[in-house]
Amino acid sequence: DEQDLQQGFEDVIAADQRIEPRDWMPEAYRKTLVRQIAQHAHSEIIGMQPEGNWILRAPSLRRKAILLAKVQDEAGHGMYLYAAAETLGVDREELTEKLISGRQKYSSIFNYPTLSYADVGVIGWLVDGAAICNQVPLCRCSYGPYARAMIRICKEESFHQRQGYELLLAMVNGTDAQREMVQESTNRFWWPSLMMFGPPDADSPNTSQSMGWGIKRHTNDELRQRFVDMTVPQAEALGITLPDPDLRWNAERGHYDFSEPDWSELKAVISGSGPCNAQRLAHRRRAHEDGAWVRDAAAAYAAKHGGSR
Ligand code: ACO
Repeated sequence: DEQDLQQGFEDVIAADQRIEPRDWMPEAYRKTLVRQIAQHAHSEIIGMQPEGNWILRAPSLRRKAILLAKVQDEAGHGMYLYAAAETLGVDREELTEKLISGRQKYSSIFNYPTLSYADVGVIGWLVDGAAICNQVPLCRCSYGPYARAMIRICKEESFHQRQGYELLLAMVNGTDAQREMVQESTNRFWWPSLMMFGPPDADSPNTSQSMGWGIKRHTNDELRQRFVDMTVPQAEALGITLPDPDLRWNAERGHYDFSEPDWSELKAVISGSGPCNAQRLAHRRRAHEDGAWVRDAAAAYAAKHGGSR
């Protein structure tokens, strides 16, 4: 009965084993996973836009090839994640509808504009760096399909981070103007990157239950601290200043102290009024409408040949 099923589920979680699609799971667990995985998939898809903005203006064939490959990887990540969400009984079509009608979220970070080519490097370094910090623990998520998707995504994400850092190394070893571009871009992306980890723990309604279920393995603040500790030495190696006058090593804690991000900005961006929210959604909606004939043709073909969609 229901109680035995619940107990079986809890035993699997307690033993740190994986829940698989055919296993019984509490409805709230399923809902939380759909929410997080869909939001994650949407982030990968919307995340193609800020960097895609530079594909036609990359300064060399080599840089263009790298950027194209990276943006294409993000589409791939979105697809694995939609596939993982589908194992929970939702449909990709339905998730896409929810994204383009603004009923499901995607990461705040992709609502900021990419104003200079240095942003391509800084996004690789800071945004993909933050994504890795957040996502490596998700490889141990209690839900099997999500955990397995994260393994491949994290490998590619590490590669993206390295390409960003390599681009920045080239720029900081270039002209004064190039170094200034990197600094200016870092100044814009630092605080939004810290906000990617979500609200502070005291304001994070989902963390404790998600940790109890082994979906999340660390709190938002723990991962944010880990990211700061990892990034400061990288900034020093680049000769770039992180725009926080209170950033300093705290020997007692064994961590860097840093200032509080402006949480009202995160709230505004999440609720739809960030600098590019309207533009990102309008672009995604237009792409979906433009692709209608492809979906219709695929469905007609499948119907004619008796295949399932
Ligand atoms: N951008 C947009 N929404 C956010 C953000 C953010 N940076 N941080 C938190 N939120 C939302 C949460 O989704 C939640 O909203 P909801 O309950 O309506 O879904 C609300 O703010 C409160 O936050 P939390 O209780 O802390 O939510 P949660 O436990 O889900 O933690 C987190 C948020 C850390 C983002 C988690 O969902 C997660 O780890 N997701 C997977 C990683 C991911 O989505 N990465 C995308 C960006 S990285 C990339 O694509 C390159």
